[in-house]
Amino acid sequence: MRILKAENYEDMSKKAANIIAAQVTLKPECVLGLATGSTPIGTYDVLTEKYNQGELDFGGVSTVNLDEYKGLDRENDQSYYYFMHKHLFDRVNIDKSRTNVPNGMEPDADKECRRYEELIASLGGVDMQLLGLGHNGHIGFNEPADAFDKETHCVDLTESTIEANKRFFASAEDVPRQAYTMGIKTIMQAKRILVVVNGEEKADIVAKAFFGEVTPQVPASILQLHPDVTVVADAAALSKIPE
Ligand code: F6R
Repeated sequence: MRILKAENYEDMSKKAANIIAAQVTLKPECVLGLATGSTPIGTYDVLTEKYNQGELDFGGVSTVNLDEYKGLDRENDQSYYYFMHKHLFDRVNIDKSRTNVPNGMEPDADKECRRYEELIASLGGVDMQLLGLGHNGHIGFNEPADAFDKETHCVDLTESTIEANKRFFASAEDVPRQAYTMGIKTIMQAKRILVVVNGEEKADIVAKAFFGEVTPQVPASILQLHPDVTVVADAAALSKIPE
């Protein structure tokens, strides 16, 4: 695991975007696994700038997003489909037919999860997976549990995740209670993983996830076992890691 220290959020976003840009440049027909949340917004902004400056071509890129709330339609401004279009897909020359987000409106969870796993396999797997880190150590919506969930599945969100995400909704009651998410095995099968994390409020979980015991109680801790992980974190998020 490589840990790259960034000065602040802006610097983290630049460093992460440079890594993604290098991936797209080296393999223009790559498959990017993408994340939502507040952390990667700056990264998507820098990627958009690079595209506007003619430095980056998304024409051959395919994408698969990590997760989606169950029950939110694409037009809902809190859906991850909406988020991805707003922050990246509508701003660059990506072929929208090659972008993929789990379908939150599919009521049959088994059917949707199977479809998504098959889709990822049909693309030949993920070349680079971008991840944020939840306050409780979740990645995607893989919440702390007694065992690692493997493939794409439907999850019941924990109270702490509902609490953390309610800032985007009118009230906590409006936050969906379930989501579709890639599983830990799906994530671990990505060839390369890039984690972005910032802010003092993530300092404890950064220390636990990347320097503590590997346990399903801290889902991100499994990343310690992946052969190619880069964490780009700002100084505040790294303030509690061991010397
Ligand atoms: C989003 C996702 C989540 C977030 C995590 C951190 O697609 O998979 O795991 O990455 O909740 O969210 P932020 O960046 O808002 O702190």
